[in-house]
Amino acid sequence: MQADEFEGQVVLITGGARGQGRSHALAYAERGADVAICDRCADSEAIGYLLGTQSDLDETKRQVEQRGRRCVAGTVDTGDRAAMDAFVALVQQELGGIDVAIANAGVSDGAAITDHPQALWDEVVGSNLTGVFNTVAAVAPGMAERGYGRVVTISSMMGRSSGPNMAAYCASKWGVIGMSKSAAQELAHSGVTVNVITPGNIDTPMVKNDALYAKVRPDLDSPTWDDAASVLGQLHAQPIAVMPPEDVTRVVLFLTAEASVHLTGIVVPVDAGWSTRTSA
Ligand SMILES: NC(=O)c1ccc[n+]([C@@H]2O[C@H](COP(=O)([O-])OP(=O)(O)OC[C@H]3O[C@@H](n4cnc5c(N)ncnc54)[C@H](O)[C@@H]3O)[C@@H](O)[C@H]2O)c1
Repeated sequence: MQADEFEGQVVLITGGARGQGRSHALAYAERGADVAICDRCADSEAIGYLLGTQSDLDETKRQVEQRGRRCVAGTVDTGDRAAMDAFVALVQQELGGIDVAIANAGVSDGAAITDHPQALWDEVVGSNLTGVFNTVAAVAPGMAERGYGRVVTISSMMGRSSGPNMAAYCASKWGVIGMSKSAAQELAHSGVTVNVITPGNIDTPMVKNDALYAKVRPDLDSPTWDDAASVLGQLHAQPIAVMPPEDVTRVVLFLTAEASVHLTGIVVPVDAGWSTRTSA
């Protein structure tokens, strides 16, 4: 991949305040793209760990600009279609037509099906499935009109499998795959590709938080990351508990390259071998 691979392109990334979204934003900036990032920058009462903040979002913007590229940053909840449409319109006005969109924003939490708060279902499905749909639907008209677009949606290894206390998360992530394949078919005549990545455990605050440690190690009083890692690591076939966000970024860049023109509707696992056990 050339250093100027994305020179002159405009890339939109949701959930860009931190974690994988920030890693993607910086990689595109380093390769010549202007970048638009959005994040809700607010916690959710339904989710047991803290989400990205305004200062996280500002920091991603600062780091994109430090790399010599323009950056538009917006406080947007992807679950709000009107807000997503307005953000896309702003980005098109400020930076020009959007070439690449990464529907990355999401949350992770779970509960037993016998005692499942409605608010948790609404939050997880709202952010992880409706939010991804809203992102794809907001960028698709402009891409189709211009005859070019590369879209990547972020599902999960749980998007092709299942687990106890994960009904909402699994449903949302399976849904991302079905929605993305449908969008890929619809847009196949418009020069727009849509592909899915299913990450395994990635080293971000979504995994590195006390609420998750307690869920993974209910047998311990105050479990630490090391306690959780011994369980989480068993999900992967390779001997690694979490992978760096850059492992996902590499695949995001590949799928959104101009040359990846005939890859559409595919699902790429970046999961250290989890899918060897779960899918053909
Ligand atoms: N970390 C993992 O192990 C892992 C594994 C599989 C899939 N994923 C998926 O990867 C994606 C990125 O997660 P991450 O690991 O970077 O976690 P993260 O929590 O560090 O980052 C996610 C960002 O999305 C934002 N966000 C959440 N809901 C939003 C909404 N409705 N609107 C706008 N912004 C919102 C959060 O504020 C946060 O800044 C998510 O879709 C997640 O489900 C993560």
